[in-house]
Amino acid sequence: MKFGVLGTGEVGSAIGGKLMQLGHDVVIGSRQPGGDKARALGARTGAGIGSYREAAAHAEWVFNALPGEEAIGILRGCAIDDKILIDIANYNSAVDQPIVTPIGEAIQAAFPRARLVKTLNSVSAHLMVEPTSLGRPHHVFVASNDISAKSEVTELLRSFGWASILDLGDLTACRAMEQLIPLWMRLEEKLGTTHFNLAVVHDDASPAA
Ligand SMILES: NC(=O)c1ccc[n+]([C@@H]2O[C@H](COP(=O)([O-])OP(=O)(O)OC[C@H]3O[C@@H](n4cnc5c(N)ncnc54)[C@H](OP(=O)(O)O)[C@@H]3O)[C@@H](O)[C@H]2O)c1
Repeated sequence: MKFGVLGTGEVGSAIGGKLMQLGHDVVIGSRQPGGDKARALGARTGAGIGSYREAAAHAEWVFNALPGEEAIGILRGCAIDDKILIDIANYNSAVDQPIVTPIGEAIQAAFPRARLVKTLNSVSAHLMVEPTSLGRPHHVFVASNDISAKSEVTELLRSFGWASILDLGDLTACRAMEQLIPLWMRLEEKLGTTHFNLAVVHDDASPAA
């Protein structure tokens, strides 16, 4: 598959590297594709490096690994119509301020032809792509208005190693997913590590994956 990963930070690096390990064709989009950071990332992962526009143009599927506050402005320059857009973003402001419109819903409204799937935003970057490294069951959430896109992304998550994938329904779930950030930040502070995740305990009759 051809992927574009928008963002060269912790998340873009982890996702881009994992996709390359899985044998996909990846271009990672950067603000400064000729800069040292982007070039080092390309050398480390083997992925191609380009502008955000070039990464999206290359792709059949696009990952949004940008700050939530910046995503819509950057996506305006990108070809994402009719493509699966996997939105991992959170608002930096969500740490201590209420969310007015969740990013996932705002992006879908701005780009109605994108097939947006919200997932992974409540998971540490390294665990997104190595979930088994925790050594016990834990959950990733997924939501989309596009049932078929959600099912395709669920398969991709399985290829990353995810066994427990909880479908939260349509994109109205983005509010709950993005509001986990203050809890996540407090847990990181108290546990002193990012090597943790949430697990949902339920009985066998529950319809969770
Ligand atoms: N880190 C995690 O564990 C984690 C977990 C779950 C969700 N998320 C979410 O995933 C997204 C990416 O997180 P991250 O940790 O990879 O972030 P990061 O390390 O700060 O990287 C952000 C990326 O966005 C780019 N960017 C473009 N415009 C920007 C601007 N105006 N200000 C700042 N950065 C800008 C940065 O470019 P440059 O490289 O040129 O600076 C960088 O490539 C965020 O929405 C975050 O909330 C992160």
